[in-house]
Amino acid sequence: MSKKKTCMTVIENRAIAEGIYSMVLVCPEGESFGAVRPGQFVGVCCRDGSRILPRPISICDFDAEGKLLRLVYRCAGKGTAEFAGWEAGSEAQILGILGNGYDLSALVGKKVLLIGGGIGAPPLLGLAKSLKQADEAAGAGKVTAVLGYRTNDLFLAEEFRRAAEVIIATDDGSAGVHGNVIDAIRELSPEFDVICACGPMPMLRGVKALAEEKGVKAWISLEERMACGVGVCLGCVTKTAHKDEHSNVNNTRICTEGPVFDAEEVLL
Ligand SMILES: Cc1cc2nc3c(=O)[nH]c(=O)nc-3n(C[C@H](O)[C@H](O)[C@H](O)COP(=O)(O)OP(=O)(O)OC[C@H]3O[C@@H](n4cnc5c(N)ncnc54)[C@H](O)[C@@H]3O)c2cc1C
Ligand code: FES
Repeated sequence: MSKKKTCMTVIENRAIAEGIYSMVLVCPEGESFGAVRPGQFVGVCCRDGSRILPRPISICDFDAEGKLLRLVYRCAGKGTAEFAGWEAGSEAQILGILGNGYDLSALVGKKVLLIGGGIGAPPLLGLAKSLKQADEAAGAGKVTAVLGYRTNDLFLAEEFRRAAEVIIATDDGSAGVHGNVIDAIRELSPEFDVICACGPMPMLRGVKALAEEKGVKAWISLEERMACGVGVCLGCVTKTAHKDEHSNVNNTRICTEGPVFDAEEVLL
């Protein structure tokens, strides 16, 4: 994890669905982040000085050299609304790379079920692409992505299709299975022996219960509220099943020890 801020240049920033934007940023000449792990995130700093805290946004995609980052974000409030107005060629202060990300070595060669709910899907796209490449090299493995949306505004679904088999669920039934991601998994019974998930808390509770029922490991990314993003303020602690060795409490910091956790280890 790096607490360094990098002055990156926006090379693309466009709407890909109602209220959802895709922004691509590049490092300064001669700089790079090195190896990026799917599931890691950055803190995007607002230009408006009245909004002091960086906004945590997951890395949706990246290049092999770690020079390019793609972020996909929903306009949720003033910070993200400001980002939506940033033009190509302008500069952005980026804190990080932050967080642990997914451990590919625990997933390669397996039947991996990716479960993304709404704006939880973006970090799973980078994971799907990385797994496809690693599975091809290993000559084994299969990735299925179950993507949940409110309506048929299926942002990123086509990109997922290039890296994985895709199952769609929509709340209003306008595309795919009518219902949530868990309903779609029960209806279509995809094969899997490990789960990686990111999305709203009720969905993650459903994922944890599904993993327990099927006796498989689930790695979940918690995208709850954060403040400093670098382990200092304790604004992001979540309850854990086991006591932390140093503090002797059942707490962990999502920003430094996560955001990706073994579902068995966190109390949701
Ligand atoms: C590790 C991590 C990764 C994330 N990755 C992404 C991503 O890839 N794409 C994306 O669009 N968003 C992501 N988020 C959520 C994103 O950080 C918030 O939506 C953003 O900080 C809101 O900033 P704002 O100034 O626009 O809104 P604010 O004015 O701060 O808040 C506006 C509204 O959004 C709600 N809100 C704020 N933060 C969150 C949150 N973390 N979860 C749910 N509701 C929130 C507030 O309660 C409020 O109702 C991530 C969060 C975390 C912790
Ligand atoms: S957000 Fe400050 S410690 Fe995690």
